[in-house]
Amino acid sequence: MSDYLLEMQGVDYTYPMAEQAAVKNLSFRLPAGRKTALIGQNGCGKSTLFLLADGLFRPQQGEILLDGVPLKFDRQTLNRWRQRVGLVFQDPEQQLVAPTVESDISYGLCNQNLPTTEIADRVQQTLADFQLTELARRPLHHLSLGQKKRVSIAGVMTLRPDLVLLDEPTAYLDALQTKNLLLELDSIAQSGTTLLIATHDLDFVYQWADWILVMQQGSLLLEGETLAVFEQLQALPDLELGLPLLWQVWNMLPPAIKLKTVPPRSIKKLHDSLHF
Ligand SMILES: Nc1ncnc2c1ncn2[C@@H]1O[C@H](COP(=O)(O)OP(=O)(O)OP(=O)(O)O)[C@@H](O)[C@H]1O
Ligand SMILES: [Mg+2]
Repeated sequence: MSDYLLEMQGVDYTYPMAEQAAVKNLSFRLPAGRKTALIGQNGCGKSTLFLLADGLFRPQQGEILLDGVPLKFDRQTLNRWRQRVGLVFQDPEQQLVAPTVESDISYGLCNQNLPTTEIADRVQQTLADFQLTELARRPLHHLSLGQKKRVSIAGVMTLRPDLVLLDEPTAYLDALQTKNLLLELDSIAQSGTTLLIATHDLDFVYQWADWILVMQQGSLLLEGETLAVFEQLQALPDLELGLPLLWQVWNMLPPAIKLKTVPPRSIKKLHDSLHF
């Protein structure tokens, strides 16, 4: 298997009636089995990239590949592609289709023609994993936005795709649900699933991601290991993407401390490296 799961080569996409391309000559490779974050300013093309990667939009130029095989737009290829690539939309209202939480989570499983008992088991497990058991019978339109977001993530995860694209997964979530989601994402990543998360939360990116893609005006600006990318972003203040708080704190410390260890990427590691 290739070291790269998803790849785009010179992809262009302009929305109907739009004056400018949303994605322009976009090329990147997504390492398999890693936790990748996609960052960039509002409107730089992150959500458009996701819609292209899931085969919902067709590039006007360029190619999208999964395991080195280019995406074709016949129904059968698209169905198989979407079984392997799961997309959690930025807006949960666009994702949810069924009347209740339970039926929404089982919807995709029913489409996969799995045995009824397996569907029931997987739905129960997913409800438990995402702390949704108590909400199982609730109509979706009675849920808060954060609860809807959690249901939309659960509905994709239950299908066990090889690659999961999550567009702003922590938007609308409170501190507890954000922590729970991160634990869940880590366990999903440990099971070998490749994750790509678009977010503006750089503190989350710094702690969670092991690979980062940075977009600017529809194209890829930077890609690489987390620390290397933040080094480069520090040197590009005009981009105005900001820097993670832990990174900034670490860089204010005297060189004698900094030379002893790599920059810590959690409060606990910062604490340990200061020997309190
Ligand atoms: N339906 C649409 N029709 C026309 N233009 C659109 C449409 N959706 C998005 N765009 C434009 O395409 C560009 C990329 O938008 P996109 O939603 O991909 O950005 P983004 O990086 O996800 O932004 P954000 O951080 O705000 O979520 C923007 O200039 C946006 O205005
Ligand atoms: Mg977006």
